[in-house]
Amino acid sequence: MPLMRLDKYLSECTALSRSRLREIIKNGSVCVDGVPVTAPEQKLDSDAAHVSLDGKPVRYEKFCYYMLNKPSGLLSATDDKKQKTVIDLFPAELRKKNLFPVGRLDKDTTGLLIITNDGEFAHRVISPKSEIVKTYRACTESPVDDADVEAFRQGIVLADGTQCLPAGVEKLPDGSCLVRVMEGKYHQVKRMLASRGKPVTELKRLSIGALELDKSLLPGQFRQLTEKELCSVNKKK
Ligand code: URA
Repeated sequence: MPLMRLDKYLSECTALSRSRLREIIKNGSVCVDGVPVTAPEQKLDSDAAHVSLDGKPVRYEKFCYYMLNKPSGLLSATDDKKQKTVIDLFPAELRKKNLFPVGRLDKDTTGLLIITNDGEFAHRVISPKSEIVKTYRACTESPVDDADVEAFRQGIVLADGTQCLPAGVEKLPDGSCLVRVMEGKYHQVKRMLASRGKPVTELKRLSIGALELDKSLLPGQFRQLTEKELCSVNKKK
């Protein structure tokens, strides 16, 4: 039973400051399980309590999960002294939830990036042991061929001798290709294709497991994942 102070609970669910919330609570605008509570320090069970503010229910969610269409030019990091990060796209009231990106996309890579504050979830998504396939569309200087498909299937050996797990590459009609990998080594897709003499000129992540990037999200836009989408991350397409 996770016990939490009422003012802390409300500050995690709303954009209001702790001091403003203390005033609101003292004014009698907050009910817990239907009963007005005027003590900000009152403890409640954050999993079970029904809290309302001015009659409207306020739900506490320990973890949050967003899908971001990462634009080019931002770092996949939480903060950086000099450069903008993907977390800078989020408003202050969400940033206070300790959000971070699940894995990294390079600064010039675009597309699907999950942003969360759930460390265990992130670890599971990133770990090759989970066998979650990440799908990218890559533009290369010249199109991939059958020999590349076979080399990916066998497992590419990178220029520095690193052995990659078996992966997939598929030529698309426009000359670009789809790459499917289960691991996330540094610059992995770019290095795999470069090792085949096909340097990448553009890279976009389209899906993680069965979770696809919402095409209606413009670069830089994000939205919460639905329950169903969250479950689809662990599923095969
Ligand atoms: N592989 C890369 O080379 N870069 C990315 O950003 C993601 C996968």
